[in-house]
Amino acid sequence: MSSESLVGFIGGTGPEGLGLAMRFALRGKKVVIGSRSLAKAETAVSKIRSKLPNGYVSAGLNSDVADKCNPVFISVPYEAQSTILEELKVRLANKNVISVVAPVKFTKGVAVSQRVPAGSAALEAAQILDKSTVAAGFHNISARDLLDPDAMIDSDVIVFSDNSECKSITMDLAKLLNGVRAIDGGGLVNAKYAEDLTALLLNINKTYKAHSAIRITGIKI
Ligand SMILES: NC(=O)c1ccc[n+]([C@@H]2O[C@H](COP(=O)([O-])OP(=O)(O)OC[C@H]3O[C@@H](n4cnc5c(N)ncnc54)[C@H](OP(=O)(O)O)[C@@H]3O)[C@@H](O)[C@H]2O)c1
Repeated sequence: MSSESLVGFIGGTGPEGLGLAMRFALRGKKVVIGSRSLAKAETAVSKIRSKLPNGYVSAGLNSDVADKCNPVFISVPYEAQSTILEELKVRLANKNVISVVAPVKFTKGVAVSQRVPAGSAALEAAQILDKSTVAAGFHNISARDLLDPDAMIDSDVIVFSDNSECKSITMDLAKLLNGVRAIDGGGLVNAKYAEDLTALLLNINKTYKAHSAIRITGIKI
């Protein structure tokens, strides 16, 4: 990834996309927040601009993000993923696409991991985006922590991809988050384990009124 690449976020107005975008911008990356509505993207950018006196953060429609940026994060709710990816798949061809999508639903206040026919949200994204390279990661860190620029992210980020370059780009981005170790989680087929873990962490958060995350022990990095 060239230092001049724009890092884009489809669905970047939500806390996860916005939080990651802000953190990357704080570390010198140029980021673009995408939305279905330009006005909503601009409002989201203005919310974080005060924390980024020298950062490059701009707003765009999701289609502009898909055209201009590489890599492109997908940070929409799982229910929205297939429609938006079908819409943007031609624009996303030959790009690195990074899914942070965790298919989780709340049933009577309990987070439940949803079954996905393709095996996981990441595998579904790769099926739809058959001309893109896809990685997945960042499922197990709290958006609230990301949005606090002073908070250390006490977590590992496990990254999955079947493409070594796309995996390495994603791991390099993860390492920009203060406190994070990037861990190679293997192929995209393993992403479902991290996606499922998100539901468990959300339930633990409720019990402990906390922002839980994960650390992998027993490995040397
Ligand atoms: N929040 C967390 O702590 C966290 C942690 C790890 C992973 N994740 C994953 O990251 C993803 C984003 O999380 P989030 O909490 O930021 O989600 P969110 O706030 O619910 O949604 C993010 C954005 O997606 C867009 N969106 C919503 N419905 C859509 C639809 N039907 N079609 C197209 N776009 C739609 C919206 O943007 P516009 O209205 O501006 O288009 C919205 O602001 C989710 O898949 C989640 O599982 C979240």
